[in-house]
Amino acid sequence: MSEQFGQLTNFLKEFEPLWRERPFTTRNLRWEGHYPHLRPALLSLDQETLEAAELDIELLKSAVPGLADIIGQGQELSIVPRLAGQSKGDDGPSLRTIREVKHRKQKQIVAFLEGLGGLGIPLGGTWIEWCAGKGHLGRGLIDCGATNVIALERQKELVQKGRSLAAKYGYNQMFFESDVLHDTPPSPIADADGIVGLHACGSLTDKLLSTMMHHDLQFAVAAPCCYHAGVGNQKKHWSSHGQSAGINLSGEELRLVTAEIVVARPKLRRQRVQEMAWRLSLDRWVRESGEIEEYTRQGKFPGHWFSWDFETFMEAGCSKLHVPSPSPGKGKALREWGVMRAHEVRALGLVRSVFRRPLETWINLDRVIGLQEAGLRAKLLTFCERDSTPRNQLIFAENR
Ligand SMILES: C[S@@+](CC[C@H](N)C(=O)[O-])C[C@H]1O[C@@H](n2cnc3c(N)ncnc32)[C@H](O)[C@@H]1O
Repeated sequence: MSEQFGQLTNFLKEFEPLWRERPFTTRNLRWEGHYPHLRPALLSLDQETLEAAELDIELLKSAVPGLADIIGQGQELSIVPRLAGQSKGDDGPSLRTIREVKHRKQKQIVAFLEGLGGLGIPLGGTWIEWCAGKGHLGRGLIDCGATNVIALERQKELVQKGRSLAAKYGYNQMFFESDVLHDTPPSPIADADGIVGLHACGSLTDKLLSTMMHHDLQFAVAAPCCYHAGVGNQKKHWSSHGQSAGINLSGEELRLVTAEIVVARPKLRRQRVQEMAWRLSLDRWVRESGEIEEYTRQGKFPGHWFSWDFETFMEAGCSKLHVPSPSPGKGKALREWGVMRAHEVRALGLVRSVFRRPLETWINLDRVIGLQEAGLRAKLLTFCERDSTPRNQLIFAENR
């Protein structure tokens, strides 16, 4: 594992400009000088091939042969063993409240629970469910033999929904409305056997693992997601090698890992492309009107701004960024430019997509090696197929 981590570190460092530079904000990418064949190859992709390559890295290999070797290296270095006890469909654990759970989430939960069995974890006793949402995983744990589950969740509505599901179906699952990053955990945590988290975003996974260590719990099993969430300017690395690797990652950079659109529905994908095009038009106008070379951070816009017409969106955006609005004649040209530039940004952005899985694997290996250095038995595994969720890596830790 350390060897894989070292090789991944070298890989990420060797190709650093390819994943660090964002075509969305940077018009002149420094890597273009080193890889002169890439830009023309990417920009010659038609719309259909571009969309297909965004969804499938294997297609990207054949569409842009100049990337095939780097993609192959990244794939090789990101191989993570499968958890024994992989989902077997109908033969999986039967969940009494399965009807309350969406299909993809069902598949994730079944695979996660089978994985716990495959890891040989005794499921009796008390478990903490971290960032529980409505507590579907926790009820599944009880179906598989846990005596009771303490579910921690920040959102009041989810806590209420979880409580009413537990009451309706008669589960020994106690919900606490709790911000796990800032609140003191409820006292029963000290007596728990283990802690599970399905898709605990960003720093919530780090907190899950440190809570397990702090309270000396026997087991932690976490499937991380949204790597950027709560990270701020710099992700804290866990392992000594990670800390000395010189791979500093801000929350903004970590967005790359989960920015993929593998599971985004076509309608959602179209919305995202339009949002990108309009933001690029706005950026061009901000640069022109202020006579500046650099990208100006736009921050979050309310979602409904993108259902307005383009002119109204530009007025709102300009007002937020304190620049005058463009004239109606100028607006049309800006809009067309944004559409053209969005295609370019997506095509050039394919280069970054090559590094998503390697970065994700690097972050999780760093966590696992850090846990091992602290004396725990720890592993990185995959627990389900990518079509159930692309966030299918799982960290297992056991106090010896
Ligand atoms: C991606 S969802 C996963 C929910 C659930 N585990 C599942 O897989 O269906 C992440 C959950 O973490 C909760 N959350 C986010 N920040 C939190 C915090 N600081 N403390 C507790 N829960 C938090 C969110 O409200 C959300 O329900």
